[in-house]
Amino acid sequence: MCGIVGYIGDEEATPVLVNALKKLEYRGYDSAGIAVLGSGSEGQGDGEKRSLVVRKAKGALKNLEQRIATEIIRGTMGIGHTRWATHGEPSDVNSHPHTNVSGKIAVVHNGIIENHAKLKEWLKESGVAFKSQTDTEVVAHLVDHFYQGDLFEAVRATLDKIEGAYALAFLCENEPERIIAVRKDAPLVIGAGKGEYLIASDVTPLLEYTRDVYYLNDGEIAVLYRDRVEFFDREGHPLTKETTRVEWDVSAAEKGGFEHFMLKEIHEQPKALADTLRARIKTYAAKTINLEEIGFDASWAQAHRVVISACGTAWHAGVVGKYALEHFARIPVDVDVASEFRYRDPIYDPKDIFIIISQSGETADTLAAMRMARKSGARIIAITNVVGSTLAREADLVMYTWAGPEIAVASTKAFTTQLMCVYLIALKFGHLRKVIDDAELAANIDALEALPALAEQLLGKKDDIQRFAARQFNKTKAFFMGRLFDYAVSLESALKLKEIAYTHSEAFAAGELKHGPIALVDESTLVVAICTQSALFDKMDSNIKEVKARGATVLVITWEDEKYFDATADEVFRIPRTLDALSPMLSVIPSQLYAYYCSVMRGNDPDKPRNLAKSVTVE
Ligand code: G6P
Repeated sequence: MCGIVGYIGDEEATPVLVNALKKLEYRGYDSAGIAVLGSGSEGQGDGEKRSLVVRKAKGALKNLEQRIATEIIRGTMGIGHTRWATHGEPSDVNSHPHTNVSGKIAVVHNGIIENHAKLKEWLKESGVAFKSQTDTEVVAHLVDHFYQGDLFEAVRATLDKIEGAYALAFLCENEPERIIAVRKDAPLVIGAGKGEYLIASDVTPLLEYTRDVYYLNDGEIAVLYRDRVEFFDREGHPLTKETTRVEWDVSAAEKGGFEHFMLKEIHEQPKALADTLRARIKTYAAKTINLEEIGFDASWAQAHRVVISACGTAWHAGVVGKYALEHFARIPVDVDVASEFRYRDPIYDPKDIFIIISQSGETADTLAAMRMARKSGARIIAITNVVGSTLAREADLVMYTWAGPEIAVASTKAFTTQLMCVYLIALKFGHLRKVIDDAELAANIDALEALPALAEQLLGKKDDIQRFAARQFNKTKAFFMGRLFDYAVSLESALKLKEIAYTHSEAFAAGELKHGPIALVDESTLVVAICTQSALFDKMDSNIKEVKARGATVLVITWEDEKYFDATADEVFRIPRTLDALSPMLSVIPSQLYAYYCSVMRGNDPDKPRNLAKSVTVE
């Protein structure tokens, strides 16, 4: 949800900023812009005196690139932004950076200034003319209002006035030696290079320049010079911070020969699943699951309930988690979307175990749910993919998914690895609660270990899905249905198709279809029936016949050796066999591929779907 970057060093800033923005485009692509302290080709700078030059363009980053190719700016410090519009339509004028009236102070912002309307009125009364409809522009004018020759103090005074969530970076023409950055409830990372410092909303843009990063905490201020960075608290007291070394493989954030990041990430699932599992399986006398990282010990036996909260795809991982924990551990589970959880006056018990799931670890609603749950005194377990994310730093205990960077907006490998994590917890918990014995635990561990190779086999048949998509991609209505784990996977499957193919798709518990939704089924409907729960095959078969009788085309996703649906389905896609209760880690993959191919066939960009952002850091 908006990406911000900054650079100060000896290199030309413009290419560094643009390059960094490319890596953050997943956070928003409604517009992009940069501000560089230097000289513009239209003569704003005289080569000696450096002036602040701003370039911005509506739409994807390539529009900005076209502009700066002809309207060159030279200078070795600057800030940049890629936008996901919240206040004001996507347009040149609403693009960041925003400047004060004289154009000498520039700001980029990720987040929302909640009291912007009041501040705007106040500034207007003192004669400030606003150019944009954004909440951010008030920040530029406020800094100007407080500026008396010291940007640092002006920023501090501004922070006292603004409310909301923000990561901000500032540049001032009168102070050509420093950039200032602050954060509150929005991510910000500082990269420490040799003779250069960078700012970014996540670590991926920094990896080309440095692996040593500082994670800024809420309320902290960073002042970046060419040769050093200084940190302060809100009161202006100096802080000492340590760098963290990032071990991510740079190539993991490149497309590696695939047409899109999404396709690459779908194909990375076998490796990601294996990586997630590897560190957690230990062999002593027998194979066992080691979850020391989340403090798993005998005290967990006292828990009365597990509560799971998350958003989007991560919430679907939570729904699978509910089925898995209830099945394997026989413990009651509540699962709720974080935006509902935080406002529904939930009932807490200090003996609850909270599981908070988030790929990015930065989703605003998810963080709010986690912070509320913390107050209850319950144990908080975060499942996240991003080391150093706010969630990882604030939760009591963290279980990393180890999926590697996920760039495509629609989540794939992060989802399947989140599933792997919840299954590991469910199995370990089930064993502790004596619901499953040693032999059952061992059988399930063996099945988990076999999954990466099975996922690889499944991906080998992707052409079948591509051919099916070629016949169906123009369908305007798609329903996914299933029972138990298959219902949870249906939720995720329908979301994928909505997100990137823009097809109206819905998920239904198969038994619920007849209670209303079947009224929507006609010849134009594609129904994907996910059928991996063997005990309920006859029920699914009836549901399939019900929709076929209304004219729907039916694709069944089932086990490779299963003939049950051959007579009823229009098409059957077969997945390698695993235990029924572990099916989601495989059964979701055909739907990911189907959504991907439909998206491409409809002429969409699956990596950057319209109106979406990968990390939603506002409410
Ligand atoms: C956004 C993304 C979704 C994602 C959700 C939660 O809405 O578009 O793909 O599932 O945020 O993200 P998180 O990083 O918390 O898992």
